[in-house]
Amino acid sequence: MAVILGPSKESIEQAKTLLSSGKPIGFPTETVYGLAADAGNESAILSVYQVKARPSFDPLIVHIANGAKNLKELAALNLIDSSKIDAQRSSQINTLMKRFWPGPLTLILPKHQSVSDLITSGLSMVGIRMPDHPVAQSILKEFGRPLVAPSANRFGRISPTSAKHVDEELGDLIELIVDGGDCERGVESTVIGLADDGGFNLLRPGSLAAEDIESALGEALKVPSAKSKAASPGTLASHYAPESKFVLLKKQLSSMNACDWSAIGITAKTKTALLIPCGKHVDANFTSTHFELVGTRTLSARDDEQEASKNLFRSMRELDALDADVIVCEPVLYDGGLWIAIKDRLKRAATR
Ligand code: TXA
Ligand code: MG
Repeated sequence: MAVILGPSKESIEQAKTLLSSGKPIGFPTETVYGLAADAGNESAILSVYQVKARPSFDPLIVHIANGAKNLKELAALNLIDSSKIDAQRSSQINTLMKRFWPGPLTLILPKHQSVSDLITSGLSMVGIRMPDHPVAQSILKEFGRPLVAPSANRFGRISPTSAKHVDEELGDLIELIVDGGDCERGVESTVIGLADDGGFNLLRPGSLAAEDIESALGEALKVPSAKSKAASPGTLASHYAPESKFVLLKKQLSSMNACDWSAIGITAKTKTALLIPCGKHVDANFTSTHFELVGTRTLSARDDEQEASKNLFRSMRELDALDADVIVCEPVLYDGGLWIAIKDRLKRAATR
């Protein structure tokens, strides 16, 4: 049974002790909570896959302490092989590191030979991230070595944005969760990698808007098709799935008629939870003759992308706890920025 401890000298020390003995722990980052383990210990890495019930083809991101300011300093950590990166992209990566690290940007780069194949699922590339959270940074500094850290949820489920969520997901399987409060960003890091024909691929939209990366790079990110080899192995069509059935509407609630509801199998007796991504489309007095309403969550009534991201996974989890027959989500009205990642997660939640 996991113990949840707030950040203190003692809890950080306890985290170090467990990590040193090869045990994974729950820890906070600015995006979502991670399941952290010693990146230099193969049995610790294997236990991360076991605890999450994660398939071995889905590689892990290596998290590093604040420090390396450019590619040369990063290469000195013996995690990446910078000789395999051309001069132009090396300089672009330096720009990205300077601008966005520490922060929610994961770079997929040629791996150093000493990086375990268990981390990369046998790929020649490794994902590196410098999290921007004081507790994650304290643990990384105290431990003194890089940590692998996938999101601390069972494979395919909703990512945790609080210590309590980690406990709900994995509490029976780990000993310690360090509580750093609710995650400020709420959605995972943006993942980019080197494209075969030059430039960079956007492998997973996330908490750092693609437009911000593009303006720093001075060029557009490429988006590999989901079927291509370049696509991130972990970005499966179905992910972030609540236990309840999750339906993404094609139109706003106000324009749904009786035929539309019956077409998606919802009747007056269907216990329905509503997820409203933006706007005040549903107020506290909302009722419907088309279904039995059991609960509502709005991500951002003022259409703010940051607020909506921060609330996304928590709201999905809260609606899931209502034991509804179905969670119905209105379509997102916006494009670009963080809405891309929000739409990506909603789409995957709706895919079975
Ligand atoms: O914000 C985050 O990135 C969180 C926090 C805990 O840091 N971590 C996280 O890890 O989201 P995870 O394992 O849940 O997602 C990592 C994603 C997966 O889609 C994985 O396939 C991809 O990154 N990835 C990791 N290494 C890769 C590699 N070598 N090549 C391509 N994709 C990779
Ligand atoms: Mg994950």
